[in-house]
Amino acid sequence: DKAGHRHFMLKEIYEQPTVLSDCLRHYSDGTAVTIREGELDFAQTDRLILVACGTAHYACLVAKYWFEQLAGLPCDVDIASEFRYREPPVSDRATALFVSQSGETADTLAALRYARDKAARIVSVVNVPESSIARDSDLALPILAGVEVGVASTKAFMNQLGALAHLAILAARQRGRIDSAREAELLGTLRSLPGLINQALALEPQIEAQTRRLAEAQSVLFLGRGAMFPMALEGALKLKEISYIHAEGYASGELKHGPIALVDKSVPVVVLAPRDGLFDKTVSNMQEVMAREGRVWLVTDAEGGRLAGDGVWHRLVMPTVDPVFAPMLYAVPAQLIAYHTALHKGTDVDQPRNLAKSVTVE
Ligand code: F6R
Repeated sequence: DKAGHRHFMLKEIYEQPTVLSDCLRHYSDGTAVTIREGELDFAQTDRLILVACGTAHYACLVAKYWFEQLAGLPCDVDIASEFRYREPPVSDRATALFVSQSGETADTLAALRYARDKAARIVSVVNVPESSIARDSDLALPILAGVEVGVASTKAFMNQLGALAHLAILAARQRGRIDSAREAELLGTLRSLPGLINQALALEPQIEAQTRRLAEAQSVLFLGRGAMFPMALEGALKLKEISYIHAEGYASGELKHGPIALVDKSVPVVVLAPRDGLFDKTVSNMQEVMAREGRVWLVTDAEGGRLAGDGVWHRLVMPTVDPVFAPMLYAVPAQLIAYHTALHKGTDVDQPRNLAKSVTVE
C-alpha cells in the first residue's frame, strides 16, 4: 500500500518524520539516552569498528564523525566485503558494530562472524530484529523504521543515523566528554529533526522543478565537507541507483586533487553545505567550480545562501539546524533529488534494474 503516493520510495521518504520520532522515543526520554549502562560500555572500549555495505556503510561514515567528535572514541569504518577478506587485526577491547537494514546481507554477516571471537562485544543496528545479523550479535539494536519496500534505502538510512546518534551520545557520556546538560541539549536537537524534516519535505516542488535540468546530465558530482562528505556519497549513490545517471560523491577538499578535471558546463555539481565552521572553505571550492563554468546546485540554509554570493545555478534553502546532526536533515533533499530526477527520466524508481533489496549472496 503506497498510502496515496506514486511510489513506495516517496511514501517512505514522507514517513521519515514519523519513524524517526519512533526511533528517538525508543532511545531517549528527551533528556538522557535510555540504553542501559550494562548493555554497552564505551568507557572500556579502545576502538569502535563499524562495518556495513552500501547506504548502511554511509550511515557508519557519518557516525564516525559523531563518535570521534562527541565521544573522542577512535573509530574505523569498513566495507563488509573488504573487512571480511582483509582479515584485519581486531583488539579484544574493541567494540564491533554492524549496520544492516535487512540484517541478512551476506558480506556483513560474514564480517560479523569474523569479528565474533575477537572483539570484546558484537553489536548490530538492524531494521529486522529477527534477522541473522541480529541473532548473531551480543546486542541487537532496532532502528524501528518499519518495513522498507523501495529498493533504494531512505527511511532506514534516516533511522540508522537516529540510532547511531544515540550511541555516540551515550559513548560521550560514558567517556566523560559531556555533562547531562549537554546530553539533554544534543537530544533536544535530535527531537527537533522530525519537524525540520517536514519543512524540508515542503521543498519538494522546488526540487521537482530543478531536477528537470539535472535529468539531462550524463554525470553529476556531489560535494560535502565533514559529516556532509558521507552525505555526498549517499546523494550520489541514490542518484545512480534509480536514475542511472553517473554520479560521484567527493569530499569538497578533494576537488582539486582530481575530480575538478571533470568540471565543465555539462556536469552539475550538487554541494551539500549547511553554514558551519567549514562553510567558507566550501564556498571557495564552489568558486573553483564556477570559474570553470560548472553549474552549482547549492543546498544550504538561509545564512549559507546569503554568504555564498552570486553565480550559483540553483540555491535550495533548507531550515537551519545544529551542524552536528545536519546530515540527517540533508538526507531529505538528497533523496528527493534522486527521486525526481528518476521520474523525469522515466526509470523504475521502486525496482531499479540489476538491484535487489536484500543481498544475501556475495
Ligand atoms: C542503497 C541500498 C543498498 C543497501 C545495501 C546494504 O539504497 O539500499 O546500498 O544499503 O545493500 O543493505 P542492508 O542494509 O540490508 O545490509
